[in-house]
Amino acid sequence: MLCSRYISVSFLLFSLSLHAVNCAGPLYHFCFSQENYTANSPYGTNLNGLLNLLSTKVPSTGFGLGSTGEGQDQANGLALCRGDVSSTNCKTCIDDAGKELGDRCPYKKGAIIWYDNCLLKYSNIDFFGEIDNKNKFYMWNVKDVENPTSFNPKVKDLLSSLSNKAYANPKFYATGDLELDSSSKLYGLAQCTRDLSGLDCKKCLDTAISELPNCCDGKRGCGLDGTGGIGVGGGGGGLQRCDFPTMYNIGD
Ligand SMILES: *[C@@H]1O[C@H](CO)[C@@H](O)[C@H](O)[C@H]1NC(C)=O
Repeated sequence: MLCSRYISVSFLLFSLSLHAVNCAGPLYHFCFSQENYTANSPYGTNLNGLLNLLSTKVPSTGFGLGSTGEGQDQANGLALCRGDVSSTNCKTCIDDAGKELGDRCPYKKGAIIWYDNCLLKYSNIDFFGEIDNKNKFYMWNVKDVENPTSFNPKVKDLLSSLSNKAYANPKFYATGDLELDSSSKLYGLAQCTRDLSGLDCKKCLDTAISELPNCCDGKRGCGLDGTGGIGVGGGGGGLQRCDFPTMYNIGD
């Protein structure tokens, strides 16, 4: 979670009938390590142990990190579930994420994957407590709002207030909404991975907010995801990143 975060905003009223995005499937992933391991190697064994550890440890609180093995063969990882996801769904998501990374990034020592419900990251390099500025992506709703001049500042206001709430919350998580007019609301979500300090969480979220104009100017919904997040969306007031019909990678 380079910058462990999500950031997204969605203007719901007209945004729901666009493309069907598979909410259960992965949103994005990176195989960020150049280093490979081989089957039955110590790293492979440690990584399997790590995935089992995270699957057991994370669902009860929605966040956890761990390391298995030592030295060159150590596997370090963390998983985060969206703040409103049940422990059952959290566990399912983490298990799926581990399997999917095995398929998508075979024998890579470092990888990260995002789902609507969770994210999972592992590496042979210890990355805990650090803002991840590389592994991130944008997603947005392809439809524009009618009046971006009044809309964009509202998105910024909502997310800034959620950033302030999230970093002060022990779960580094906040949601909220803002009335746009008598018939529509903007919904938002902000969340960081809990290995960050409070100040780094805030820094991470605020950086994400400052990058929103790169992708999200006047878009009815948009998001920026790293290793934590801010997000908005959902017709019934739910906040689902799969509401965003387009995704674009800005990482390396
Ligand atoms: C890892 O494997 C890939 C292909 O599977 C290869 O292109 C790359 O050079 C390997 N990296 C190292 C450091 O050996």
